[in-house]
Amino acid sequence: MVESRRGASARAPRTNFESPSHRITLGDCVAEMSKLQAGSVDLVFADPPYNLQLKGDLKRPDESHVDAVDDDWDKFDSFSAYDDFTRAWLLAARRAMKPSATIWVIGSYHNIFRVGAIMQDLGFWLLNDIVWRKSNPMPNFRGRRFTNAHETMIWAARDEKAKGYTFNYEALKAANEDVQARSDWLIPLCTGEERLKGADGKKVHPTQKPEGLLARVLLSSSKPGDLVIDPFNGTGTTGAVAKRLGRSYIGFERDKTYAKAAEARIAAVEPLPEESLAPFMTAREAPRVAFSELIERGMIMPGTKLFDAKKKLGALVRADGAIMLGDKVGSIHRIGAVAQGAQACNGWTFWHVETKKGLRLIDELRAEIRAGMAE
Ligand SMILES: C[S@@+](CC[C@H](N)C(=O)[O-])C[C@H]1O[C@@H](n2cnc3c(N)ncnc32)[C@H](O)[C@@H]1O
Repeated sequence: MVESRRGASARAPRTNFESPSHRITLGDCVAEMSKLQAGSVDLVFADPPYNLQLKGDLKRPDESHVDAVDDDWDKFDSFSAYDDFTRAWLLAARRAMKPSATIWVIGSYHNIFRVGAIMQDLGFWLLNDIVWRKSNPMPNFRGRRFTNAHETMIWAARDEKAKGYTFNYEALKAANEDVQARSDWLIPLCTGEERLKGADGKKVHPTQKPEGLLARVLLSSSKPGDLVIDPFNGTGTTGAVAKRLGRSYIGFERDKTYAKAAEARIAAVEPLPEESLAPFMTAREAPRVAFSELIERGMIMPGTKLFDAKKKLGALVRADGAIMLGDKVGSIHRIGAVAQGAQACNGWTFWHVETKKGLRLIDELRAEIRAGMAE
């Protein structure tokens, strides 16, 4: 499944949109991930067996059968067997991760504490634990415990010193009414049309995750063109979302039926238009442009004046890139602060140049330079 994509949009930072590919490898994830090039993966999402330790059939008070996870792939002889398995796949995933890559592991109270401790022992650096709060959880049928209404996702960097991992802070904030995104996510279980069903009308897989959950994971911690892997592919939820969001994907699954269903599901996904995916440039990520570059490029001539929005103040632009107001000389920021009697000022959003069409913020001239850089 290979998709051909064009270059990133002019205003976006450089990202590799070229030919994201999507595939599922049949087999044991530890053995298969070991064949990946070391340090090649940008993001890992793992939904491993939870080792639910269910003893016998789960029944409702009316004796009807509860469709719980009792599959062989979720069974381990002991906690220590589960820990060995966890260590093995985490090490294989870590080897494949770029130094700047991050990993998500989802689990429930049955396994997540063991997984978290092992991750720390192996050197992963925990960044967050996200609580996925289910808006439509399964009730507790026996009434002997609280309704288990959440799962936990651990998000971790490859190691403590890892630098430059992707966290699309500004985009998440913008999508959240300009409020910082929180670590508790309210998302419904995967039901209805989204749930993969076989010819017999039964669920293809017992633990298919909602696409909304994976979309938030990928949108927060990866970029278009990144390589995302999922050691426990199942129905390919991660792969379907990765393709829709313009990321490359490799999933590992040892069950042939699940792998086939996932392949068909991913093949049917249409990637979103590039312009709807291009990461927006955050203030932190945007390339630095010095005010003197505007002079060097002939966008502002030495000797012209910079004005505040009301045109009450006029500062002279010097040939060396400093500006002068009265007898005060300094940067656009320093003189902007002096002009307002303020401690600090962002000169880019304070000073204007005069054009035929009126005053124009110098920040707009800087944006033109940055757009050219992105091209
Ligand atoms: C919890 S499910 C993942 C469900 C998936 N996130 C989805 O949305 O469909 C775990 C999957 O891992 C697979 N699996 C278990 N052990 C594996 C292994 N060692 N290698 C590859 N796949 C494995 C199981 O067959 C199962 O489909």
